Amino acid sequence: EKGTYPHYMLKEIDEQPAVIRKIVQTYQDEQGSLTIDKDILQAMNDADRIYIIAAGTSYHAGLVGKQFIEKMAKIPVEVHISSEFGYNMPLLSEKPLFIFISQSGETADSRAVLVEIKELGYKALTITNVPGSTLSREADYTLLLHAGPEIAVASTKAYTAQLAVLAILAEVTAKSRGFDSNYDLVQELGIVANAMDVLCGEKEEFEAIAREFLSTTRNCFFIGRGIDFYVGLEGALKLKEISYIQAEGFAGGELKHGTIALIENGTPVVALATQESVNLSIRGNVKEVVARGANPCIISMKGLETEEDRFVIPEVYGLLTPLISVIPLQLISYYAALHRECDVDKPRNLAKSVTVE
Ligand code: M6R
Repeated sequence: EKGTYPHYMLKEIDEQPAVIRKIVQTYQDEQGSLTIDKDILQAMNDADRIYIIAAGTSYHAGLVGKQFIEKMAKIPVEVHISSEFGYNMPLLSEKPLFIFISQSGETADSRAVLVEIKELGYKALTITNVPGSTLSREADYTLLLHAGPEIAVASTKAYTAQLAVLAILAEVTAKSRGFDSNYDLVQELGIVANAMDVLCGEKEEFEAIAREFLSTTRNCFFIGRGIDFYVGLEGALKLKEISYIQAEGFAGGELKHGTIALIENGTPVVALATQESVNLSIRGNVKEVVARGANPCIISMKGLETEEDRFVIPEVYGLLTPLISVIPLQLISYYAALHRECDVDKPRNLAKSVTVE
């Protein structure tokens, strides 16, 4: 039930801090340490390479998940769009482990890959929000998102839940491999949940940004580097699916290789600047588009901000920034769709779960 909320999407955006706290609690043992089923840990440790298979928003979560697993647990990861993998299987490593990410657990494109790799005798882990879903039943192992039902077609809380579960999986695997981290993930995810609360309390600000940048535009670009690029892809998907504004996410450095030709006077460019290592270079990319007339909306993180920034998100642990930098993008998309009188929860041409290949 959406209660006093005008739309499920807004309610689900607001539920994100509670979902993150629930996930942390659910994946803790009695001593308060994060824990993962030992068979799953064994499968992670047996693998020489992990293949993440997913579609849409879940694919975008997979791109960030690759960073978590490679940086924390030091296992190589490939991320594939399920509908592509099915028809064009890459050369597999000797001991692959497959991770399927799917909110619904019913996405036909992902299921087709699961059937195929099970026939080849490989192990699969499904990360899903729906216990007993097809992808959960047919995989060897399941990790649940505990996000509660997601009704709006645009996925919001499932994405941040997927990131949290992937971070926990990466961290627990890292520990089991003897890699000790210099931070406490339980504490860092607590900081993330608090930062989410702050962002969910800034709705007027995101409504104003949507009005200023998106009320009449035909198109919009999202740029970022590293994990900010992946969050930009998700921001663009959110915006196009519910507001019908043509939106694309690009790696900051790739613009000059063609896309910059699309920048005209007033074209909105949302730039994410949450990573210290690429802060200067992404700001250089913003200058490039501004020189061509773009209307820049820089979203940065506390500690990295400059005067030109439109919004500054609270500081969280570097790798975990996607969990909070996505919230402004979700809310900006929501208000853009609202201002354009679109059907926010049920956008045209889309279904909540895509059960055809
Ligand atoms: O249920 P799944 O996570 O497998 O769904 C995958 C995509 O269809 C889904 O994420 C879609 O892209 C969303 N509508 C995006 O908001």
